[in-house]
Amino acid sequence: MISRETIDKIFETSRIEEVIGDFVTLKKSGSNYKGLSPFSSERTPSFMVSPAKQIFKDFSSGKGGNVVNFLMEHEHYTYPEALKYLAKKYNIEIEETGQTDEQKAQRTERESLFLVNDFANKYFQNQLWETKEGKAIGLSYFHERGFTDETIKTFQLGYSPEDWEAFTKQALTESYKLDYLVKTGLTAQKGERNYDRFRGRVMFPILSNTGRVLGFGGRTLQSDAKTAKYLNSPESEVYHKSKTLYGLFQSKNELSREDSCLLVEGYTDVISLHQAGVRNVVASSGTALTKEQITLIKRYTQNIVILYDGDPAGIKASLRGIDMILQEGLNVQVLLFPEGEDPDSYARKVSAIEFKEYIADEKQDFLRYKAKLLLKEAGNNPLEKSKAARDIVESIAIIPDALQRNAYVQECASVLQMDEKVLFAELAQVRKNQANKEQKDRKREEANSARLEVVNEIEAKQDDNLMSLQATKHFDQERSLCWLLLNYAEQEYVFSEEDPSEPEEENDEEPEKISVGLYILAELAHDNISFHHPVFNQLLTEMTNHFNNTGEILKAEHFIRKEKIDIVNQVVDLITEKHVLHKWKLKKINLPDSHDFVKTFTFEAVLRYREKRIGDYIAEIQQKLLDSDNPAAELVIQIERLNKLNELRVSINKQLNRVI
Ligand code: CTP
Ligand code: MN
Repeated sequence: MISRETIDKIFETSRIEEVIGDFVTLKKSGSNYKGLSPFSSERTPSFMVSPAKQIFKDFSSGKGGNVVNFLMEHEHYTYPEALKYLAKKYNIEIEETGQTDEQKAQRTERESLFLVNDFANKYFQNQLWETKEGKAIGLSYFHERGFTDETIKTFQLGYSPEDWEAFTKQALTESYKLDYLVKTGLTAQKGERNYDRFRGRVMFPILSNTGRVLGFGGRTLQSDAKTAKYLNSPESEVYHKSKTLYGLFQSKNELSREDSCLLVEGYTDVISLHQAGVRNVVASSGTALTKEQITLIKRYTQNIVILYDGDPAGIKASLRGIDMILQEGLNVQVLLFPEGEDPDSYARKVSAIEFKEYIADEKQDFLRYKAKLLLKEAGNNPLEKSKAARDIVESIAIIPDALQRNAYVQECASVLQMDEKVLFAELAQVRKNQANKEQKDRKREEANSARLEVVNEIEAKQDDNLMSLQATKHFDQERSLCWLLLNYAEQEYVFSEEDPSEPEEENDEEPEKISVGLYILAELAHDNISFHHPVFNQLLTEMTNHFNNTGEILKAEHFIRKEKIDIVNQVVDLITEKHVLHKWKLKKINLPDSHDFVKTFTFEAVLRYREKRIGDYIAEIQQKLLDSDNPAAELVIQIERLNKLNELRVSINKQLNRVI
């Protein structure tokens, strides 16, 4: 467990706007930041980050919370993972307290899968470096390929022995659960039999951008065509192929430093280039780049160079896929290798310097390349040529930046030897069609989101109702009091019981001002009130205790740092303006002046809540009177109490009527 002190330090040091800024483009908007929701696809920003409150709120998905919650939502980190990520980012040393077996058992499944993968990664490396078979077969294969020991270690390469169950047996011996071994795909099952998926293969661990083991690729060392050359981990809770880039962990710093990302086909290309000193390189593992992978790259750079081995048919097939990269606003270049060479073989053939020079000299703009390729195919056939032109223009049309589009039209006109005007006209037409389509999409999206809002509101209300019906009475009143405690505790007013709406009487003494926080806590303590709702009651109890000990009111910050997400969510809701405004509107309250409003609202909220609780009490006594066969003396006491309560209730109601 990470110590409380460390957690506090992490929260104090982290700037939520900085952390989220690494994943979402944020724009300053008043004292907050705004951006497009990373949790839904939208065109108008409804994602808000508040540096003052150190929270985010996503109004389109309803998600909200502190900096840790963001990382848990967005990066799928666990609570400790998120804390560790922040500690790393802000150079904070982590202090851990001892873990009990129970806590270990409570780790989530994800965490367990990672543990299994981590174990396997160490196991395969150990096989490679320490066993006779591993050294003789695996290590010598890598050496033959020209990988140095340093490279092998950097990429944590390993070896799986030629055995049906060596790994699975070892893992079970070390108490890893079969369930997890199967879920990560390391162990395969056939009927009653459990056996190793990877046998007699050199192993390439696939790491996340933070270096956790997501899965493996294994290359066979047999040359017969029956066995697949590469075998990969199946998709799992922790491994999603489409969201992963091989080599990103080793290259990510280099991507931003070079401000360019080289994209290659597979493991061996990444590793060879890395060894040759070209380190801004990742692989998408065989498939065309996905949107998620592009988003991943965009965190580090806007420039991407696609490295192809010289097979024109393959290149042509991949052209359409590249449009998606253009659409994301990235600059795309391509680099071709000489006939018969791939990045891996070429990097081994020439020196590192020559290789770098080759990249610098030979990389060319993607659209220009595409224009040349299509033109070559069209030859002198005018019909084919105009088809090619349209194809190019369609790619240009999806580039978000207008200046860039224009530059491309000019460039491609010269490549195609066509009149610029013709291409511009074509571009305008394609853009118009696209705009129409987009407008239709947007309208549909807006209609959907409007509908969604209504549904959300209804659902929220239903939730509230459900809660107050099931466990928590007076939910709204308790929430109002918590809202005041969290947002306005420090504001000071003169709270006179008599009549807050009348001007203060001329008096010798200065009327005493007290804070909203003190007022509420004292009033509630006076009647020994605890809240029905568990979260609200925790707020109230902690605030009261803290106040009794220190004389200070706990701030929202304190609650936002809690691990329990229901507390964090409730508090974020309570301190997020939009929510409150919404509530005000529901109550049809017009706010002349927020200052007066807070005073009035505080006064009213306390009274109203006391009135409710007194009402409960009265009902309770009445019930007792009905049920009881108590002696007369007891009855008299109860009836007296009842009268007092009724009086109190009447007086509160009078005051309430005056306030409203
Ligand atoms: N690759 C793959 N699945 C395959 C073939 C290739 O995932 N069935 C990927 C691997 O990541 C590999 C890259 O494509 O690193 C290059 O393929 P290839 O050259 O065929 O693999 P090598 O291991 O380099 O084999 P060889 O020594 O025959 O070149
Ligand atoms: Mn190869």
